[in-house]
Amino acid sequence: MSGKFITLEGTEGVGKSTNLAVIAQWLEMHSIPYIQTREPGGTPLAEQLRELLLSPREEKVDPKAELLMVFAARAQHLAEVVKPALARGEWVLCDRFTDATFAYQGAGRRLPKSLIEQLEQLVQEGLQPDCTVLLDLCPSVGLARAQERGELDRFEAEAQSFFERVREAYLQRAAADPKRFHIINADQSIEAVAADITKALDNMLPGAAHG
Ligand code: TMP
Repeated sequence: MSGKFITLEGTEGVGKSTNLAVIAQWLEMHSIPYIQTREPGGTPLAEQLRELLLSPREEKVDPKAELLMVFAARAQHLAEVVKPALARGEWVLCDRFTDATFAYQGAGRRLPKSLIEQLEQLVQEGLQPDCTVLLDLCPSVGLARAQERGELDRFEAEAQSFFERVREAYLQRAAADPKRFHIINADQSIEAVAADITKALDNMLPGAAHG
C-alpha cells in the first residue's frame, strides 16, 4: 500500500511550524509511519537551492529563474525523498508544495499559470498531494508576526500587496479542489486551529466518511 501525501500551505506568519507539529502528533497518535519534510528543500541539494532562493540579494532575481530553481529543488526532493517514502508505504508530511508555486510565482510574481502547469507535469508526472491544509490569515497579521521573528528573507520582504495576491490564489485553488483542500481559519486560538486541523485529518482515516 502506498502512503498518503499531506501538504501544509499558507502565507507568511500563519503558524505553519506549530501546526506541522499538530499534524505530526496526529500521525503518531494513529501509529501511521511518516516522514516530515519541506519545500523548497528536503535533500542536501534542494536545501542549497532553498538557501539561494531565500537569501536577500542585490541582484534582481528573474521570476523565471526563481520558478526553475523551485522546480529543480522539487524534482530532486521528489526523486530522493517523497516518492521513495510513499512507495515504502509511509505518509509524507510536507511543509509547502506546488500550490505555493502557483500562489507565489504565479499570483505573486505574475507568471502565467500555464507555464507552471507545464513544469508541474514535467516534474511531478501526475503526483499530487492527497490532502492539503491551507492556513488562512489576513497577510497584515501574518507579516507582523514574521517581522517579530527577526530578519526577513527574500520573500518576507515583499510588499503586503504581494501576499494579498498569494492569499487570494491559495483560496481560489482551494475553492477549485475542495476534496483535497481544507481551509483552516488561522486567526483563532492555537487550540481551535489544532482542533480544526485534526477534524480535517480524521477524514483520511480508513473507514471515515469522506467530505
Ligand atoms: P517557509 O517554508 O519557511 O515559509 O519559506 C519558504 C518560502 O519560499 C516562502 O516564502 C514561500 C516560498 N516558496 C515559493 O515561493 N514557491 C514555492 O514553490 C515554495 C515551495 C515556496
